[in-house]
Amino acid sequence: MEEFFVIKALEDGVNVIGLTRGADTRFHHSEKLDENEVMIAQFTEHTSAVKIRGKAVIQTSHGEVNNS
Ligand code: TRP
Repeated sequence: MEEFFVIKALEDGVNVIGLTRGADTRFHHSEKLDENEVMIAQFTEHTSAVKIRGKAVIQTSHGEVNNS
């Protein structure tokens, strides 16, 4: 099973953008988080990459990133 990653927004308006898997890499989903909102997500057959814009703490199995 794919692992989950956690994104905690440290400010209003943090964008979590899902990018498609496969030859064609494009945005397919954009989620807006407000301060202290948490999103828990996985990589899936549809999503191979995620772009995060704004101040957030991101936890993955590879470690934690503080994007602030
Ligand atoms: N429908 C998307 C998918 O199954 C939902 C999704 C999963 C998603 N992980 C994501 C959207 C990460 C944005 C970021 O792939």
